[in-house]
Amino acid sequence: MKMKQYEQRIQTLLSNMTLEEKIGQIQQCGPSLVGAFDVSFDELLNMMFDGRISKEEFDRLMGTAEQDFHEEDLRAGKIGSYNGIGDSAIANRLQKIAVEETRLGIPLLFGYDVIHGFRTVTPIPLAESCACEPALWEKTGRVAAEEATAAGVHLTFAPMVDVARDARWGRISEGAGEDVLLNSAYGAAKVKGFQGDDLSKPDAMAACVKHFAAYGAGEAGRDYNRVDMSMQRLWEEYMPPYKACIDSGARAVMPAFNDINGVPCTANPWLLRDILREKWGFDGLVISDSNAIAECVDHGLAEDKRDAAKQAILAGMEMDMSSNSYAEYLKNLVESGEVPECVVDEAAADVLRIKFELGLFDNPYQTSEERERGAMLTEGSRAVAREAAVKSMVLLKNENHILPLKADARIGIFGALAADQGQMTGAWAIGARPEDCVSIVEACGARGISYQYSEDGKDLLKIAASSDVLVAAIGERKEESGEAASRADITLRKEDLALVRDLLATGKPVAVVLFNGRPLAIPELAEHVPAILEAWHPGVEAGPAILDVLFGDVNPSGKLTTTFPASSGQCPMYYAHINTGRPGGKSKFTSKYLDAPVEPVYPFGYGLSYTTFAYDNLAAEQTGEAVHVSVSVTNTGSRDGDEIVQCYVQDVAAKRVRPVRQLKGFEKVSLRAGETKTVDFVIPFAELSYYDWNMEEVPCEGILKVYVGGDSRAELSREIRI
Ligand code: NOJ
Repeated sequence: MKMKQYEQRIQTLLSNMTLEEKIGQIQQCGPSLVGAFDVSFDELLNMMFDGRISKEEFDRLMGTAEQDFHEEDLRAGKIGSYNGIGDSAIANRLQKIAVEETRLGIPLLFGYDVIHGFRTVTPIPLAESCACEPALWEKTGRVAAEEATAAGVHLTFAPMVDVARDARWGRISEGAGEDVLLNSAYGAAKVKGFQGDDLSKPDAMAACVKHFAAYGAGEAGRDYNRVDMSMQRLWEEYMPPYKACIDSGARAVMPAFNDINGVPCTANPWLLRDILREKWGFDGLVISDSNAIAECVDHGLAEDKRDAAKQAILAGMEMDMSSNSYAEYLKNLVESGEVPECVVDEAAADVLRIKFELGLFDNPYQTSEERERGAMLTEGSRAVAREAAVKSMVLLKNENHILPLKADARIGIFGALAADQGQMTGAWAIGARPEDCVSIVEACGARGISYQYSEDGKDLLKIAASSDVLVAAIGERKEESGEAASRADITLRKEDLALVRDLLATGKPVAVVLFNGRPLAIPELAEHVPAILEAWHPGVEAGPAILDVLFGDVNPSGKLTTTFPASSGQCPMYYAHINTGRPGGKSKFTSKYLDAPVEPVYPFGYGLSYTTFAYDNLAAEQTGEAVHVSVSVTNTGSRDGDEIVQCYVQDVAAKRVRPVRQLKGFEKVSLRAGETKTVDFVIPFAELSYYDWNMEEVPCEGILKVYVGGDSRAELSREIRI
């Protein structure tokens, strides 16, 4: 009923709109920065990066900058949406212009990158994926939506569900890692969290799943690079997470910057029409990535910006983020007959529809400054951020039970990251404020821990002499991962390694706390440092959460969702690789490097606990159209703990080479010391099928090997014939 009302009103509105007004609806612009500089903000940024101006000069010029919201264009009905405004006062002021001063009074749609929290910054997605807990993913999504919508945001450019298997890629930090199933589950949960149960509620935020498709597969891990792969691989390994988000109700989709097999996703009719609309039945909004339409010229797909606008709109690219291609050329393209007006109508209708769904026509002002003031960083949100941070951490090593630390342990803390609040948030948290974050050092003070701190290793020997344990906070700064932050070398900095060597030389027990936005190649740490805690970029509650784990208030349970290679040269390295005819091994003529091990340093799914778990009684059988797996898991240690039980399968012989194993189920179980529980997995046959040479879907038949355990190397297995 409600839907029908929208549809009628959409048609009525469209019939009253001029062509310019329709084009206005599909124009999304960000505020431009203007100030005492006569180049664009982007150019100014470039000037700082390439050294034409110093950082100080850049900061001075930025001090003069003001935002230009292009209000004249807004009044003229030329803007349907803004990107990057997270401030209720500004949003409401612009909304008032749209509603009261434009000819048709169509409300604005405000989009924003709410990637891992708004003010309450939660762990980066890669970290949070390690919690393997859909309910948590949904909960942090809800917190993000409550805050962001209070600041005037209607739509987030998230979740990113690009399967990422190359640790060099900076944006591996923004997704759920290397696995298809995990990215699908993560994305679906985030969509639910962001959107809530009713999109028209003022605290519901529409989700825009990205980057469609296969952005994580850029050649050599370099951002924005080409993606070239078989259709089988695309469908089996990269497409399912986007589909899972759409099935979970995501109302928008952002095509990726990259091409797929030669056609940029931005102007790819196969992707945006045949697959997204026809095959998947998506009826939401397609929003370009930033400037991506114009970049079809740089891709060499379009002759000029006009041609890019034409190809993109015809391909099904609806809203133009920031490139002004439609604003500049679409009217002329329609008038010349090159683009049928009905194509513009369709795109404008999808913008109007999402505005109706969000309740903007009934209530364009969904927030107020008062609501915004009360919504940020509440005690409840901070508690969620701490829970998420704790659950995201992965204990990589714990020799001689160095951890957990005794409550009265005297600790010597080293490394700038232990005290740098601003570094705790990770790369993609625009609304983050350093002062909101708690560092390790600050948390130690608040907890009354006996500690001494040295940022750079000064006084190391003195501090070590009066400490029971030494903690090194090392790894990547937040700028070293994220967009446009790929690295050819994913090892630690020399200074960090030198610090760790000095600490080890004191003979005191050493624990490393790693901060990073990607897997790092850390063979030396893995060999020599007795305890390593992977903390990622944990968000506002970094310090308290790290201490929760170091002191054992919480027993760590996170598992790696990306493989940690031994060296950069092994990238891409991931567990679900296919076998060659000569799998890597000890003998010479096998698939391996001369100067790197066959195995990674830490495999996918790996993570320790302060207790131990044992697996037994694995059973697998076919029941109807599914494989039913059950296993008993026992906590064999003396502490209560959570274990993430993982179920992998291998299709032993098939019509095409298949992965050596694939995750088909995961479940977190809480076990008291000594307790045993049975865990069941049901794997529908549909999730075991694959594509043959002709892209026909083939059912899995013959021998299926099922493995269950605590990481991707699990040895407990059963074979069944299906
Ligand atoms: C570029 C990024 O690729 C995309 O993920 C983001 O949403 C847009 N910029 C907008 O900031």
